[in-house]
Amino acid sequence: MSNHEHQETAHRPVKRNGMSRRQFLSYTLGGAGAFMGAGMILPMVRFAVDPILQKKETGTFVKVVEASKITNEPQEFKFKIHQVDGWYISDPELTAWISKDSQGKMFALSPVCKHLGCTIGWNTEKNNQYVCPCHGAHYTQEGKNLVVAPKPLDEYELKVENEWIYLGPVMPNTRFK
Ligand code: FES
Repeated sequence: MSNHEHQETAHRPVKRNGMSRRQFLSYTLGGAGAFMGAGMILPMVRFAVDPILQKKETGTFVKVVEASKITNEPQEFKFKIHQVDGWYISDPELTAWISKDSQGKMFALSPVCKHLGCTIGWNTEKNNQYVCPCHGAHYTQEGKNLVVAPKPLDEYELKVENEWIYLGPVMPNTRFK
C-alpha cells in the first residue's frame, strides 16, 4: 500500500454499531431522572392517600343502653359501630357484658377470651363467673383471669350522658393490670 492510500483510509469515518455516545448518555441520565422523580413523587402520593386509608372510628362512642337497666348481675348488650376503613365501610355488631362493681361503678367487659379469642359467657356453669367454652378459661365478675387465660378480660371505655351508657374503644382491664 502506498503512503497516499494509507492516509485516505485513516480519514474515513469510523462506523459504529449500536447507540452513539449521545444516545447512551440521554438514556442513562433519563433513566436516573425518572428513578429519582419516582422517589420524590411516591412519598407525596402516599402522604396524600394515607389519611383516607386510616380508620376514622378511634375514640367514637356508641349509645348502648339506659344506665338504669344496669345491675350487679352482668347482662349482655349488643350494639353496632360504623367503621370506615379506606373505601370499605361496615357496621359490625359488638357485644359487651355490662354490670356494676362492688363500689357501684358501671363497667363493660369485652366478650373476647384472652386465651385464644373465643367468646365467653356469664354464669354458664352456675358459678357466677365468666367461662370460655373453648379451653375452660374462667374469669371473675370484674373480668379477673382465674385459670387458663393469661390476662383479665378487656374493657370498653364507658361514659354516661343523659342517663344513657355510651361505649367507646376497647382497652386493657382497668381493675387488674
Ligand atoms: S380461647 Fe378461651 S379458653 Fe381458650
